[in-house]
Amino acid sequence: MKIIGTGSALPALRVTNDDLAKFLDTSDEWITTRTGIQARHLLSTEDLYDIAVDASVKAIKASGLRPDQIDFLLVSNVANLHVTPGLSAIVQKRIGLTCAGLDINVACAGFVNALMLADGMMKAGHAKNILILCAEEPTKYCDWKERDCSVLFGDGAGAVVVTEGTAFKDVKLTMISDRDVLYYERGMETTPFEKEYIKGQPLVMKGKELFRTAVSESAKDINALLKRNGLQHGDIDWFMLHQANKRIIDGIRHIVGGPDEKYPTVIQKYGNTSSASIPIMLDEMIADGKVKAGQKIVMSAFGAGFVSAACLWEWEF
Ligand code: UT7
Repeated sequence: MKIIGTGSALPALRVTNDDLAKFLDTSDEWITTRTGIQARHLLSTEDLYDIAVDASVKAIKASGLRPDQIDFLLVSNVANLHVTPGLSAIVQKRIGLTCAGLDINVACAGFVNALMLADGMMKAGHAKNILILCAEEPTKYCDWKERDCSVLFGDGAGAVVVTEGTAFKDVKLTMISDRDVLYYERGMETTPFEKEYIKGQPLVMKGKELFRTAVSESAKDINALLKRNGLQHGDIDWFMLHQANKRIIDGIRHIVGGPDEKYPTVIQKYGNTSSASIPIMLDEMIADGKVKAGQKIVMSAFGAGFVSAACLWEWEF
């Protein structure tokens, strides 16, 4: 499998830390030093479906394929307005696709999990050209009266078109079941047989615990991936990590090794865009000419579950 087209889309509204400090008990200094985030983009005039379509259309255009040559649509999304139908069904027609699709929810690790599924589908002969779309609006499930989660997230979409090739070398997935570390509950209808109305619960996060687990498990995944492929950190050109906190990226780097320049970031501009963070960054790095054929690239992400996932590429165009 290889990636032949990328695209990304951010909402028009850019919100800085100072903008947040106007209505939350927070400061640019706190957010910048604790997370590295300086700004994020928030959905306001457009909706998630608009940016999902925008990123997808750009990725298909960049791939050189026509929409009717896409065999399958694989979507990663944690939550959106619709519980059903899935996001893939909502955006399929607007992207110009007629193929089947499905949605996955592996939190912020959705992109790497989707890559693993796409690779398996290709090897099994189910599809040749697959559009992977990661579209997320985490700002819609934060409590905006509280400062603990709302300052961390941003909305965004990233998409890639994958086809047959040998660039995708290996993948490692981890799940450690622990709902309490990070969760969001949507409200549900109440039957006449229940006593209490089941109301929703905005995002709850045990920040410090999540921080520690993210650093140790991501580093473990990456080191295991390197070891079983006979590689050292110096052999890797880019470590493209999930953009949740610059200090988490630094923590992983201290264990795995390598200079800061090999660990690119977009978190300062976009905050944590959940599973869209790596494909958005990849799209920008390809546009900037930073990704070159033959480079070895590690991608690694973690999120609610607790889940983490890492994969290894030897890049082909
Ligand atoms: O995609 C996965 C999603 N989430 C993550 O990966 C998050 C992982 N965790 C983290 O990134 C960090 O734990 C946080 C950025 C969430 C918090 O950083 P921290 O260094 O662990 O801070 P803390 O929780 O120890 O909080 C320190 C203080 C507390 O005040 P007191 O109790 O020391 O007086 C908080 O109430 O900072 C306070 N605080 C804030 N202050 C200003 C918490 N949030 C804010 C805020 N602005 N936004």
